[in-house]
Amino acid sequence: MSKISAAITAVGAYVPEYVLTNQILETMVDTNDEWITSRTGIKERRILKDDGKGTSFLAIKAAQNLIDKNNLDPKDIELVIVATATPDMKAASTASFTATEIGATNAFSFDMDAACSSFLFGMSVAASYIESGRYKNVLLIGADKMSSIINYKDRATCIIFGDGAGAVLFEANDEGLGLKDEYLRSDGSGREFLQATYGGSSHALTAEVLANGGHYAFQEGRTVFKNAVFNMADAAEKILKRNNLTKNDVDWLAAHQANKRIIDATAQRIDLEDEKVMINIHKYGNTTSATLPLLINDYESQLKKGDNVIFAAFGGGFNWGSIYLKWAYNSKN
Ligand code: UT7
Repeated sequence: MSKISAAITAVGAYVPEYVLTNQILETMVDTNDEWITSRTGIKERRILKDDGKGTSFLAIKAAQNLIDKNNLDPKDIELVIVATATPDMKAASTASFTATEIGATNAFSFDMDAACSSFLFGMSVAASYIESGRYKNVLLIGADKMSSIINYKDRATCIIFGDGAGAVLFEANDEGLGLKDEYLRSDGSGREFLQATYGGSSHALTAEVLANGGHYAFQEGRTVFKNAVFNMADAAEKILKRNNLTKNDVDWLAAHQANKRIIDATAQRIDLEDEKVMINIHKYGNTTSATLPLLINDYESQLKKGDNVIFAAFGGGFNWGSIYLKWAYNSKN
């Protein structure tokens, strides 16, 4: 009997309409287009302007896009996972609301948070449910409304992040396609360098904290940068070695879009040509849990059945890793 593997069989995405360009940011904080472009590769990002709409709004739109593009019946979906660092609210899961809104009424659902590695770790979780034989499909959505925790007076963070969502459907596969291997790691000593300190269970959100912006995300950019460059590249290199893959065997690198220089460093470590490196950071910035599915959505038409895709991510926590996946279908367009 052949082993069941978990393959991505459908993709969808959504980004909000409002475009926050580097030029607009120049009017908000002491920065400039040249600095942002050369240090990060970002030209613009999308922002969900409506305060009454949370991450679920983005997640629902991305999932609906996937369902519509592939003529799926949402009632056939068995599990909905929303990977996010910015859930709609505490206690009530964003995934449950999302699942009900898209009509996935036969599914169970939950949220997953590993900061910028939420989607990467979510791929591992989704695949495990399928490989175990207990479920035949899982809808994995990566969605973040980063603008809800960004201080637009802090030039160290507001130039980087954007809002967006992407969704993939994992299904059982008996041709050996899909997730082949993973190398995932965490190091909690890194949490002091990237966090939104107040508003969780350890530090209450008082009126004073709120007035000082303590609920916003803070990062010590240089330390996060150094750790991201080392660990993301290291994880990608380890995955290649462990699977006896040379650079010629790799068709695509889908790396977390946090900074173009971090992506380039990862590609250089595995000696990969630029044409094989998926990039959309210039359009969306760092959308945290949404970067990997947004990449897959943007490159879907170029992906071919059997392509070897190396995923890599690094984020707050610290959490990082790499996944080797064999793409399962040719473009449906
Ligand atoms: O997705 C989760 C993981 N997050 C990341 O991977 C982000 C990792 N970090 C980074 O991408 C980079 O560290 C940043 C883009 C955040 C910052 O780039 P950097 O090259 O590390 O700059 P820096 O923080 O070392 O700052 C260099 C200089 C400083 O000025 P001085 O001290 O040299 O005079 C900063 O004050 O650039 C200044 N600076 C800015 N200047 C113009 C910092 N932010 C800005 C800005 N515009 N927005």
